[in-house]
Amino acid sequence: MKTLKNIEWIKNHHQALSPFGKGKPTLANLQEMFYGKEGSIYIHIPYCLKICKFCILIKKPGKPNPKYVDTLLKELSMYENYKVVRSLYFGGGTPTLLSVEEFERILTFIQERFGKPEETTVETTVTEFNKEKAECLSSLGVNRLSFGVQTFNESERYLLGRRRSIKEVIKKIKLAKDYFKIVAIDLLYDLPYDNFLLDDVKKAVELGINGISIYPLVYNKSMKNYPHPDVKKNERDFIEAYNFLKENGYSHLSINHFSDGTDKFLSSSSFTAALSLLGIGCGAAGHVENISFFHIPIPYLYSRGIFQIVKTKTPEEVLKGKKFISQLFNGVLVFNDFSVEDFKESVSLALSNEWAELNGKKLTLLPKGLFWKHNLAHAMAKEFLNKWNRRMENKG
Ligand SMILES: C[S@@+](CC[C@H](N)C(=O)[O-])C[C@H]1O[C@@H](n2cnc3c(N)ncnc32)[C@H](O)[C@@H]1O
Repeated sequence: MKTLKNIEWIKNHHQALSPFGKGKPTLANLQEMFYGKEGSIYIHIPYCLKICKFCILIKKPGKPNPKYVDTLLKELSMYENYKVVRSLYFGGGTPTLLSVEEFERILTFIQERFGKPEETTVETTVTEFNKEKAECLSSLGVNRLSFGVQTFNESERYLLGRRRSIKEVIKKIKLAKDYFKIVAIDLLYDLPYDNFLLDDVKKAVELGINGISIYPLVYNKSMKNYPHPDVKKNERDFIEAYNFLKENGYSHLSINHFSDGTDKFLSSSSFTAALSLLGIGCGAAGHVENISFFHIPIPYLYSRGIFQIVKTKTPEEVLKGKKFISQLFNGVLVFNDFSVEDFKESVSLALSNEWAELNGKKLTLLPKGLFWKHNLAHAMAKEFLNKWNRRMENKG
Protein backbone atom coordinates (compact mmCIF):
# COMPACT_ATOMS: atom_id res chain seq x y z
CA MET A 1 0.00 0.00 0.00
CA LYS A 2 1.13 3.54 -0.70
CA THR A 3 2.09 5.48 2.39
CA LEU A 4 2.69 9.18 2.80
CA LYS A 5 6.43 8.51 2.70
CA ASN A 6 6.49 7.47 -0.94
CA ILE A 7 4.09 9.89 -2.54
CA GLU A 8 4.88 13.40 -3.69
CA TRP A 9 2.48 16.18 -2.63
CA ILE A 10 0.42 17.34 -5.64
CA LYS A 11 -0.35 21.04 -5.35
CA ASN A 12 -3.00 21.85 -7.94
CA HIS A 13 -5.98 20.41 -9.78
CA HIS A 14 -4.32 20.60 -13.21
CA GLN A 15 -1.65 18.18 -12.07
CA ALA A 16 -4.22 16.14 -10.15
CA LEU A 17 -6.27 15.56 -13.31
CA SER A 18 -3.26 15.26 -15.64
CA PRO A 19 -3.77 11.47 -16.21
CA PHE A 20 -6.83 12.44 -18.30
CA GLY A 21 -4.50 14.14 -20.79
CA LYS A 22 -5.73 16.72 -23.26
CA GLY A 23 -8.23 14.69 -25.31
CA LYS A 24 -8.25 14.32 -29.11
CA PRO A 25 -8.00 17.37 -31.42
CA THR A 26 -11.36 18.21 -33.00
CA LEU A 27 -12.80 20.68 -35.51
CA ALA A 28 -15.95 21.26 -33.39
CA ASN A 29 -17.73 24.56 -34.11
CA LEU A 30 -17.84 26.43 -30.79
CA GLN A 31 -20.38 29.04 -31.97
CA GLU A 32 -22.82 26.27 -32.84
CA MET A 33 -22.14 24.40 -29.64
CA PHE A 34 -22.71 27.38 -27.34
CA TYR A 35 -25.89 28.40 -29.21
CA GLY A 36 -28.90 27.89 -26.93
CA LYS A 37 -26.82 26.93 -23.90
CA GLU A 38 -26.60 28.42 -20.40
CA GLY A 39 -23.45 28.86 -18.37
CA SER A 40 -20.58 31.14 -17.40
CA ILE A 41 -17.98 33.37 -19.05
CA TYR A 42 -14.28 33.76 -18.19
CA ILE A 43 -12.34 36.72 -19.60
CA HIS A 44 -8.56 36.83 -19.41
CA ILE A 45 -6.69 40.14 -19.10
CA PRO A 46 -3.00 39.15 -19.20
CA TYR A 47 -1.43 42.54 -18.37
CA CYS A 48 0.40 43.40 -15.13
CA LEU A 49 2.37 46.62 -14.50
CA LYS A 50 5.00 44.55 -12.77
CA ILE A 51 5.41 40.79 -13.00
CA CYS A 52 5.59 39.11 -9.57
CA LYS A 53 8.50 36.75 -9.23
CA PHE A 54 6.38 33.75 -8.14
CA CYS A 55 3.59 34.00 -10.73
CA ILE A 56 2.88 30.98 -12.96
CA LEU A 57 -0.09 32.41 -14.85
CA ILE A 58 -0.41 33.81 -18.38
CA LYS A 59 0.72 37.43 -18.15
CA LYS A 60 2.51 40.21 -20.00
CA PRO A 61 4.30 43.20 -18.47
CA GLY A 62 2.82 46.64 -19.13
CA LYS A 63 -0.49 48.43 -19.56
CA PRO A 64 -3.25 46.78 -21.61
CA ASN A 65 -3.01 47.38 -25.33
CA PRO A 66 -6.25 49.30 -26.17
CA LYS A 67 -6.74 46.99 -29.13
CA TYR A 68 -6.88 43.98 -26.83
CA VAL A 69 -10.40 45.03 -25.79
CA ASP A 70 -11.43 45.36 -29.45
CA THR A 71 -10.52 41.71 -29.99
CA LEU A 72 -12.31 40.67 -26.79
CA LEU A 73 -15.49 42.31 -28.11
CA LYS A 74 -14.97 40.88 -31.59
CA GLU A 75 -14.62 37.41 -30.06
CA LEU A 76 -17.64 37.84 -27.78
CA SER A 77 -19.77 38.99 -30.70
CA MET A 78 -19.08 35.72 -32.51
CA TYR A 79 -21.39 34.00 -30.00
CA GLU A 80 -25.17 34.25 -30.12
CA ASN A 81 -28.02 32.97 -28.00
CA TYR A 82 -25.76 32.00 -25.07
CA LYS A 83 -27.21 32.81 -21.69
CA VAL A 84 -24.83 33.75 -18.90
CA VAL A 85 -26.77 32.80 -15.81
CA ARG A 86 -24.12 31.69 -13.40
CA SER A 87 -20.90 33.67 -13.31
CA LEU A 88 -18.71 36.11 -15.16
CA TYR A 89 -15.07 36.22 -14.10
CA PHE A 90 -12.31 38.63 -15.10
CA GLY A 91 -8.98 36.96 -14.34
CA GLY A 92 -5.42 37.89 -15.04
CA GLY A 93 -2.98 39.30 -15.02
CA THR A 94 -4.56 42.36 -13.49
CA PRO A 95 -8.01 43.08 -14.95
CA THR A 96 -8.33 46.37 -13.03
CA LEU A 97 -5.65 47.81 -15.32
CA LEU A 98 -8.49 48.22 -17.82
CA SER A 99 -9.86 51.75 -17.87
CA VAL A 100 -13.34 52.68 -16.67
CA GLU A 101 -14.41 53.11 -20.33
CA GLU A 102 -13.04 49.69 -21.28
CA PHE A 103 -14.94 48.02 -18.43
CA GLU A 104 -18.08 49.87 -19.52
CA ARG A 105 -17.69 48.62 -23.09
CA ILE A 106 -17.17 44.99 -22.09
CA LEU A 107 -19.73 44.74 -19.28
CA THR A 108 -22.47 46.56 -21.17
CA PHE A 109 -21.91 44.36 -24.20
CA ILE A 110 -22.04 41.16 -22.15
CA GLN A 111 -25.12 42.15 -20.18
CA GLU A 112 -27.04 43.23 -23.28
CA ARG A 113 -26.15 40.19 -25.30
CA PHE A 114 -25.86 37.36 -22.76
CA GLY A 115 -27.76 38.62 -19.69
CA LYS A 116 -26.72 39.41 -16.15
CA PRO A 117 -25.06 36.57 -14.23
CA GLU A 118 -25.66 35.85 -10.56
CA GLU A 119 -22.00 36.55 -9.75
CA THR A 120 -19.53 38.89 -11.46
CA THR A 121 -15.96 38.80 -10.14
CA VAL A 122 -13.01 40.99 -10.98
CA GLU A 123 -9.49 40.07 -9.85
CA THR A 124 -7.27 42.90 -8.72
CA THR A 125 -4.11 43.84 -6.88
CA VAL A 126 -3.82 46.47 -4.19
CA THR A 127 -1.81 48.71 -6.51
CA GLU A 128 -4.29 48.74 -9.36
CA PHE A 129 -7.41 49.39 -7.29
CA ASN A 130 -8.80 52.76 -6.24
CA LYS A 131 -12.05 54.63 -5.50
CA GLU A 132 -12.69 55.42 -9.17
CA LYS A 133 -12.41 51.72 -10.16
CA ALA A 134 -14.52 50.68 -7.16
CA GLU A 135 -17.31 53.09 -8.14
CA CYS A 136 -17.20 52.12 -11.80
CA LEU A 137 -17.16 48.36 -11.22
CA SER A 138 -19.90 48.31 -8.60
CA SER A 139 -22.14 50.55 -10.70
CA LEU A 140 -21.67 48.14 -13.63
CA GLY A 141 -22.92 45.16 -11.60
CA VAL A 142 -19.65 43.66 -10.34
CA ASN A 143 -20.55 42.09 -6.99
CA ARG A 144 -17.37 40.20 -6.09
CA LEU A 145 -13.83 41.57 -5.89
CA SER A 146 -10.86 39.25 -5.47
CA PHE A 147 -7.51 40.60 -4.24
CA GLY A 148 -4.25 38.74 -4.71
CA VAL A 149 -2.86 39.44 -1.24
CA GLN A 150 -0.67 36.29 -0.97
CA THR A 151 0.49 37.14 2.58
CA PHE A 152 0.30 39.98 5.08
CA ASN A 153 3.92 39.31 6.08
CA GLU A 154 6.18 42.15 4.85
CA SER A 155 9.37 40.16 4.32
CA GLU A 156 7.59 37.32 2.49
CA ARG A 157 5.83 39.90 0.32
CA TYR A 158 9.21 41.29 -0.57
CA LEU A 159 10.53 37.83 -1.51
CA LEU A 160 7.46 37.19 -3.67
CA GLY A 161 7.96 40.51 -5.44
CA ARG A 162 4.72 42.06 -4.17
CA ARG A 163 4.48 45.83 -4.12
CA ARG A 164 2.89 47.99 -1.42
CA SER A 165 2.94 47.75 2.36
CA ILE A 166 0.49 45.92 4.61
CA LYS A 167 -0.97 49.29 5.60
CA GLU A 168 -1.87 49.95 1.97
CA VAL A 169 -3.23 46.41 1.52
CA ILE A 170 -5.57 46.86 4.49
CA LYS A 171 -6.65 50.32 3.31
CA LYS A 172 -7.61 48.94 -0.12
CA ILE A 173 -9.46 45.95 1.37
CA LYS A 174 -11.49 48.34 3.54
CA LEU A 175 -12.26 50.47 0.50
CA ALA A 176 -13.43 47.38 -1.41
CA LYS A 177 -15.72 46.38 1.46
CA ASP A 178 -17.58 49.68 1.08
CA TYR A 179 -18.43 48.88 -2.54
CA PHE A 180 -18.73 45.11 -3.02
CA LYS A 181 -21.02 42.55 -1.42
CA ILE A 182 -18.26 39.94 -1.53
CA VAL A 183 -14.57 40.61 -1.01
CA ALA A 184 -12.24 37.62 -1.43
CA ILE A 185 -8.48 37.25 -1.12
CA ASP A 186 -5.83 34.77 -2.22
CA LEU A 187 -3.26 33.59 0.32
CA LEU A 188 -0.21 31.40 -0.20
CA TYR A 189 1.60 28.90 1.98
CA ASP A 190 4.66 26.68 1.49
CA LEU A 191 6.42 30.04 1.27
CA PRO A 192 10.20 30.57 1.15
CA TYR A 193 11.75 29.77 4.57
CA ASP A 194 8.49 29.50 6.54
CA ASN A 195 4.71 29.84 6.57
CA PHE A 196 2.64 32.65 8.05
CA LEU A 197 -0.68 31.08 7.22
CA LEU A 198 -2.25 31.20 10.67
CA ASP A 199 -1.37 34.91 11.05
CA ASP A 200 -2.66 35.52 7.54
CA VAL A 201 -6.06 33.84 8.05
CA LYS A 202 -6.41 35.60 11.42
CA LYS A 203 -5.88 38.93 9.68
CA ALA A 204 -8.34 37.99 6.93
CA VAL A 205 -11.02 37.05 9.46
CA GLU A 206 -10.37 40.24 11.44
CA LEU A 207 -10.89 42.25 8.23
CA GLY A 208 -14.20 40.49 7.58
CA ILE A 209 -13.09 38.92 4.30
CA ASN A 210 -15.92 36.79 2.86
CA GLY A 211 -13.90 34.30 0.84
CA ILE A 212 -10.34 33.08 1.36
CA SER A 213 -8.41 30.98 -1.17
CA ILE A 214 -5.38 29.22 0.26
CA TYR A 215 -2.92 27.92 -2.33
CA PRO A 216 0.38 26.15 -1.79
CA LEU A 217 3.05 28.04 -3.73
CA VAL A 218 4.11 26.25 -6.92
CA TYR A 219 7.83 26.94 -7.29
CA ASN A 220 8.71 28.33 -10.71
CA LYS A 221 12.25 28.89 -12.07
CA SER A 222 12.70 32.27 -10.32
CA MET A 223 11.73 30.87 -6.91
CA LYS A 224 13.22 27.42 -7.08
CA ASN A 225 16.36 28.14 -5.05
CA TYR A 226 14.54 29.21 -1.90
CA PRO A 227 14.32 26.61 0.87
CA HIS A 228 10.76 26.02 2.05
CA PRO A 229 8.92 24.01 4.73
CA ASP A 230 8.73 20.23 4.34
CA VAL A 231 5.40 18.62 3.55
CA LYS A 232 4.69 17.60 7.17
CA LYS A 233 5.12 21.21 8.34
CA ASN A 234 2.87 22.41 5.50
CA GLU A 235 0.24 19.84 6.46
CA ARG A 236 0.35 21.00 10.11
CA ASP A 237 0.15 24.68 9.13
CA PHE A 238 -2.75 24.04 6.75
CA ILE A 239 -4.73 22.10 9.39
CA GLU A 240 -4.04 24.78 12.00
CA ALA A 241 -5.41 27.44 9.62
CA TYR A 242 -8.35 25.16 8.73
CA ASN A 243 -9.25 24.75 12.42
CA PHE A 244 -9.05 28.49 13.02
CA LEU A 245 -11.31 29.20 10.03
CA LYS A 246 -13.80 26.55 11.14
CA GLU A 247 -13.91 27.96 14.70
CA ASN A 248 -14.63 31.36 13.17
CA GLY A 249 -17.59 30.25 11.06
CA TYR A 250 -15.82 29.62 7.73
CA SER A 251 -16.27 26.37 5.81
CA HIS A 252 -14.48 24.73 2.90
CA LEU A 253 -16.31 25.54 -0.33
CA SER A 254 -14.30 24.37 -3.33
CA ILE A 255 -10.75 23.49 -4.32
CA ASN A 256 -8.70 25.84 -2.09
CA HIS A 257 -11.51 28.15 -1.08
CA PHE A 258 -13.12 28.91 2.29
CA SER A 259 -16.26 30.98 2.74
CA ASP A 260 -17.91 32.78 5.63
CA GLY A 261 -21.21 31.57 4.20
CA THR A 262 -21.90 34.61 2.02
CA ASP A 263 -19.32 33.92 -0.71
CA LYS A 264 -20.57 31.31 -3.21
CA PHE A 265 -17.56 31.57 -5.58
CA LEU A 266 -19.74 30.22 -8.40
CA SER A 267 -17.01 30.50 -11.02
CA SER A 268 -14.87 27.91 -9.24
CA SER A 269 -17.46 25.21 -9.78
CA SER A 270 -17.86 25.84 -13.49
CA PHE A 271 -16.03 22.62 -14.26
CA THR A 272 -17.94 20.24 -12.01
CA ALA A 273 -21.27 21.89 -12.73
CA ALA A 274 -23.02 20.63 -15.84
CA LEU A 275 -23.04 24.18 -17.25
CA SER A 276 -20.71 25.35 -20.02
CA LEU A 277 -17.90 27.87 -19.70
CA LEU A 278 -17.10 30.33 -22.49
CA GLY A 279 -13.45 31.36 -22.16
CA ILE A 280 -12.59 34.58 -24.00
CA GLY A 281 -9.20 36.27 -24.43
CA CYS A 282 -5.60 35.29 -24.79
CA GLY A 283 -4.82 32.12 -22.81
CA ALA A 284 -8.46 31.67 -21.72
CA ALA A 285 -9.84 28.13 -21.43
CA GLY A 286 -13.42 26.87 -21.54
CA HIS A 287 -15.63 23.87 -22.18
CA VAL A 288 -18.95 22.95 -23.72
CA GLU A 289 -20.43 19.43 -23.72
CA ASN A 290 -17.43 17.11 -24.16
CA ILE A 291 -15.24 19.73 -25.88
CA SER A 292 -12.50 21.60 -24.00
CA PHE A 293 -10.62 24.47 -25.52
CA PHE A 294 -7.96 27.08 -24.84
CA HIS A 295 -6.59 30.13 -26.60
CA ILE A 296 -2.93 30.18 -27.66
CA PRO A 297 -1.43 32.64 -25.12
CA ILE A 298 0.20 35.29 -27.36
CA PRO A 299 -1.09 38.72 -26.17
CA TYR A 300 0.41 40.80 -28.97
CA LEU A 301 -1.26 38.68 -31.66
CA TYR A 302 -4.55 38.79 -29.77
CA SER A 303 -4.32 42.61 -29.72
CA ARG A 304 -3.94 42.52 -33.49
CA GLY A 305 -7.19 40.57 -33.74
CA ILE A 306 -5.45 37.25 -34.36
CA PHE A 307 -6.18 34.32 -32.09
CA GLN A 308 -6.12 30.60 -32.35
CA ILE A 309 -8.24 28.23 -30.29
CA VAL A 310 -7.11 24.66 -29.65
CA LYS A 311 -10.10 22.33 -29.26
CA THR A 312 -10.07 18.80 -27.90
CA LYS A 313 -12.70 16.13 -27.43
CA THR A 314 -13.01 13.67 -24.55
CA PRO A 315 -15.13 10.49 -24.81
CA GLU A 316 -18.43 10.96 -22.93
CA GLU A 317 -17.74 8.11 -20.51
CA VAL A 318 -14.27 9.45 -19.64
CA LEU A 319 -15.69 12.94 -19.10
CA LYS A 320 -18.27 11.48 -16.74
CA GLY A 321 -15.42 9.96 -14.69
CA LYS A 322 -13.45 13.22 -14.76
CA LYS A 323 -16.43 15.26 -13.55
CA PHE A 324 -17.19 12.72 -10.85
CA ILE A 325 -13.60 12.83 -9.54
CA SER A 326 -13.58 16.65 -9.71
CA GLN A 327 -16.39 16.73 -7.17
CA LEU A 328 -13.78 15.68 -4.65
CA PHE A 329 -12.44 19.25 -4.84
CA ASN A 330 -15.67 20.36 -3.17
CA GLY A 331 -14.87 18.04 -0.24
CA VAL A 332 -17.58 15.39 -0.72
CA LEU A 333 -18.00 12.56 -3.19
CA VAL A 334 -21.29 10.64 -3.45
CA PHE A 335 -21.07 7.24 -5.11
CA ASN A 336 -24.27 7.23 -7.19
CA ASP A 337 -23.21 6.84 -10.82
CA PHE A 338 -20.02 5.04 -9.77
CA SER A 339 -19.54 2.51 -6.98
CA VAL A 340 -16.96 2.46 -4.20
CA GLU A 341 -15.75 -0.78 -5.82
CA ASP A 342 -14.88 1.18 -9.02
CA PHE A 343 -12.38 3.19 -6.93
CA LYS A 344 -11.41 0.47 -4.45
CA GLU A 345 -7.68 1.26 -4.30
CA SER A 346 -8.06 5.05 -4.07
CA VAL A 347 -10.77 4.82 -1.43
CA SER A 348 -8.56 2.49 0.60
CA LEU A 349 -5.64 4.99 0.20
CA ALA A 350 -7.92 7.75 1.54
CA LEU A 351 -9.26 5.74 4.47
CA SER A 352 -5.92 4.27 5.57
CA ASN A 353 -4.27 7.72 5.61
CA GLU A 354 -7.21 9.38 7.38
CA TRP A 355 -7.85 11.64 4.41
CA ALA A 356 -11.56 10.82 4.37
CA GLU A 357 -14.39 8.96 6.03
CA LEU A 358 -16.92 6.79 4.25
CA ASN A 359 -20.53 6.67 5.36
CA GLY A 360 -22.52 4.44 3.04
CA LYS A 361 -22.20 6.05 -0.38
CA LYS A 362 -20.70 9.30 0.90
CA LEU A 363 -16.94 9.94 1.06
CA THR A 364 -16.19 13.10 3.04
CA LEU A 365 -12.72 14.63 3.14
CA LEU A 366 -11.25 15.20 6.59
CA PRO A 367 -8.96 18.26 7.14
CA LYS A 368 -5.91 16.13 6.28
CA GLY A 369 -7.71 15.03 3.11
CA LEU A 370 -8.30 18.65 2.08
CA PHE A 371 -4.54 19.05 2.21
CA TRP A 372 -3.95 15.84 0.17
CA LYS A 373 -7.06 16.09 -2.08
CA HIS A 374 -5.08 16.54 -5.30
CA ASN A 375 -3.16 13.33 -4.59
CA LEU A 376 -6.41 11.49 -3.99
CA ALA A 377 -7.94 12.88 -7.20
CA HIS A 378 -4.78 11.86 -9.09
CA ALA A 379 -4.98 8.30 -7.69
CA MET A 380 -8.67 8.10 -8.61
CA ALA A 381 -7.99 9.38 -12.12
CA LYS A 382 -5.33 6.70 -12.64
CA GLU A 383 -7.54 3.94 -11.25
CA PHE A 384 -10.50 5.04 -13.38
CA LEU A 385 -8.44 5.27 -16.58
CA ASN A 386 -6.69 1.92 -16.03
CA LYS A 387 -10.05 0.21 -15.76
CA TRP A 388 -11.49 2.11 -18.71
CA ASN A 389 -8.48 1.31 -20.92
CA ARG A 390 -8.74 -2.37 -19.99
CA ARG A 391 -12.42 -2.36 -20.92
CA MET A 392 -11.61 -0.72 -24.26
CA GLU A 393 -8.87 -3.27 -24.99
CA ASN A 394 -11.26 -6.15 -24.22
CA LYS A 395 -13.89 -4.62 -26.50
CA GLY A 396 -11.43 -4.06 -29.35
C1 LIG B 1 -4.14 36.11 -11.57
S1 LIG B 1 -3.34 35.80 -10.13
C2 LIG B 1 -3.34 37.32 -9.24
C3 LIG B 1 -4.14 38.45 -9.64
C4 LIG B 1 -3.50 39.81 -9.45
N1 LIG B 1 -2.79 40.22 -10.66
C5 LIG B 1 -2.52 39.90 -8.32
O1 LIG B 1 -1.33 39.99 -8.58
O2 LIG B 1 -2.92 39.94 -7.18
C6 LIG B 1 -4.42 34.80 -9.21
C7 LIG B 1 -3.78 33.99 -8.12
O3 LIG B 1 -3.02 32.90 -8.58
C8 LIG B 1 -2.17 32.47 -7.53
N2 LIG B 1 -0.83 32.11 -8.03
C9 LIG B 1 -0.08 32.77 -8.93
N3 LIG B 1 1.14 32.17 -9.04
C10 LIG B 1 1.13 31.11 -8.19
C11 LIG B 1 2.08 30.11 -7.85
N4 LIG B 1 3.32 30.10 -8.37
N5 LIG B 1 1.72 29.17 -6.95
C12 LIG B 1 0.49 29.17 -6.40
N6 LIG B 1 -0.43 30.09 -6.68
C13 LIG B 1 -0.13 31.05 -7.56
C14 LIG B 1 -2.02 33.67 -6.59
O4 LIG B 1 -2.54 33.39 -5.31
C15 LIG B 1 -2.81 34.75 -7.28
O5 LIG B 1 -3.43 35.65 -6.43
